[in-house]
Amino acid sequence: MQAREDGIATKLDLGWIRSQFPSFVETVNGRPAAYLDGPGGTQVPQRVMDAIRDYLEHSNANTHGAYATSARTDKTIAAARSAMADFFHCDADEVVFGPNMTSLTFAMSRAMGRELGPGDEIVVTLLDHDANFSPWLALEEKGVTVRPVGIRESDCTLDLDDMARKINQRTRVVAVGYASNAVGTINPVKEIVDMAHRVGALAYIDAVHYAPHGPIDVGSLDCDFLVCSTYKFFGPHVGVLFGTREHLQRLTPFKVRANTNEIPYRWEQGTLNHEGIAGITACVEYLAEIGRRLSPQVSSRRAALEAAFEAIVPYERALCERLVRGLGTIPGVKLYGIAEPARFGERCPTLALRIEGHTPLELARGLGERGFFTWDGNYYALNLTERLDVEKDGGFLRIGLCHYNTVDEVDALLRGLREIGS
Ligand SMILES: Cc1ncc(COP(=O)(O)O)c(C=O)c1O
Repeated sequence: MQAREDGIATKLDLGWIRSQFPSFVETVNGRPAAYLDGPGGTQVPQRVMDAIRDYLEHSNANTHGAYATSARTDKTIAAARSAMADFFHCDADEVVFGPNMTSLTFAMSRAMGRELGPGDEIVVTLLDHDANFSPWLALEEKGVTVRPVGIRESDCTLDLDDMARKINQRTRVVAVGYASNAVGTINPVKEIVDMAHRVGALAYIDAVHYAPHGPIDVGSLDCDFLVCSTYKFFGPHVGVLFGTREHLQRLTPFKVRANTNEIPYRWEQGTLNHEGIAGITACVEYLAEIGRRLSPQVSSRRAALEAAFEAIVPYERALCERLVRGLGTIPGVKLYGIAEPARFGERCPTLALRIEGHTPLELARGLGERGFFTWDGNYYALNLTERLDVEKDGGFLRIGLCHYNTVDEVDALLRGLREIGS
């Protein structure tokens, strides 16, 4: 049965979804707040807050102690590892927790860098967030050559011919984003992983931006590493990395002696954010519940997650289409990235734009006063804003939709932008 969300057919129960998020009661100057800042961090459902509070109330301790709260802490972490294994579609011992994607990537790049030197090459891209660029660039101090792949400016997609030219027998790592946090482009990750593997290079995927928008299956991608942050998909501020067992065992982390050499723990430095990790299970369960409500017959959490994304993907696409159409009627709007609805399978509903005569900061401020939370600037996609020559003029205005946004919010946003732009 298809429900209707004010003009968009969707299987999602938006009423139930929105009731899960306590922060949606927020108002600004008497208007309801619209959270269009998901790419910077999504809102969290009540159950995530409850899990964090519950951990601190009943389980707060360090790990591996001989007493009740410590045992509960061990169980909490194991449960979250298993939840993320379902999210990534891997085994639990291939899941590593850390402070955030950036720290995990620096840890991994430094570990890989131990084996690299002059003559070795790493391929990165100009479409990526700086967190999947600078950690690799830092290896230049070891004599490694870093080769950035360019973009096609017309639609902000990766220049795959350039990538094919840059990947060669000396390439040791190909580091690429699953999707751009600035212009929303979804990269052909499987194709890129295959290109890397053909020359024996490792494929390191930054899925931070993609994670709330589509199902991740590290098995079918065949990637060596994939990293994301749960605060971008309805969870707490914790980073999570998938690494194949083989590589997590083979590579040598920078670690204290007292830490075990067993995977995945050898990659987890110091005491983790236990309460945040408690929230991870709850955020994965939130997504799984969307799937179970749609397909009560699913027999596993992984299947429930897949069912959730089966409904989330077309709904987000339809919202994005409505927004892009509306933007096309506002004078002076320049949209960056894929704009033809027929190609929306190649993008997330994350839009970067400028309006002639206004800086992105002015637009974000004007929208903020009207209750629309958006971002301005480069959001660390610095290479891209420089390449598109907008960095000196304040970057872009970024509007980030996700499944909890509504048609009403999109329509009201368009009215707001029209007002500000006129
Ligand atoms: C695509 C992408 N990669 C990496 C990061 C960095 O993630 P973290 O804040 O977890 O270090 C972000 C954060 O915005 C991002 O959008």
